[in-house]
Amino acid sequence: MTAPTPYLFCAAAPPLHYVAGAIEDAQARGWTVRLGLTPTAAAWLEDHLGGLEALTGNRVRSTYRRPGDASGWPAPDVIHFAPITANSLNAWALGLTPSWPVGVVVQAAGKGTPMVAMPCVNQALAAHPQVDRSVAALRDMGVTVLYGEGGWAPNPSGQGRPTEYPWHLVTDAADRFLPQQ
Ligand SMILES: Cc1cc2nc3c(=O)[nH]c(=O)nc-3n(C[C@H](O)[C@H](O)[C@H](O)COP(=O)(O)O)c2cc1C
Repeated sequence: MTAPTPYLFCAAAPPLHYVAGAIEDAQARGWTVRLGLTPTAAAWLEDHLGGLEALTGNRVRSTYRRPGDASGWPAPDVIHFAPITANSLNAWALGLTPSWPVGVVVQAAGKGTPMVAMPCVNQALAAHPQVDRSVAALRDMGVTVLYGEGGWAPNPSGQGRPTEYPWHLVTDAADRFLPQQ
């Protein structure tokens, strides 16, 4: 059986700096991880992209390909989007495609691809009414959004603990969509 193909997407929130641990956890479950970053996330990890490509064995993608260029990646069995910022979450829910990973997930619902996302937002961002609307809209579309009970609980501003971001909740939820080996 070929290894399951999850796409692991990340936006620019501080847990991003610990993505290598999430990749290793996914690999321990038998996943062949394809890592996609928003352009801002890619800029934050600029010095580590080579190491992440070595770890995943695949090119890290962050920008739209040019027309005519091949994607180079197989279709995903599941998309795991964490951490996702308020910016990317709201864009996705509104059907906007400002970055390559968000463009992929906007279209993936129409292709029936399972998706799991966990926001990383502080209480100030979470107080904006669009965040709750976006979570509700994505859940209505069938996306598993781990937010509130059983998922991400917004932290007070300035008190984020990026080392404690519960990646495993997203990986566990995404794993349930993959064929078990
Ligand atoms: C140090 C720092 C920490 C940030 N933390 C968060 C965060 O936890 N959640 C969030 O939604 N945005 C956060 N932001 C803002 C996002 O990085 C910003 O909205 C960015 O445009 C998101 O782009 P992306 O969604 O394309 O990755 C942070 C920015 C900085 C500089």
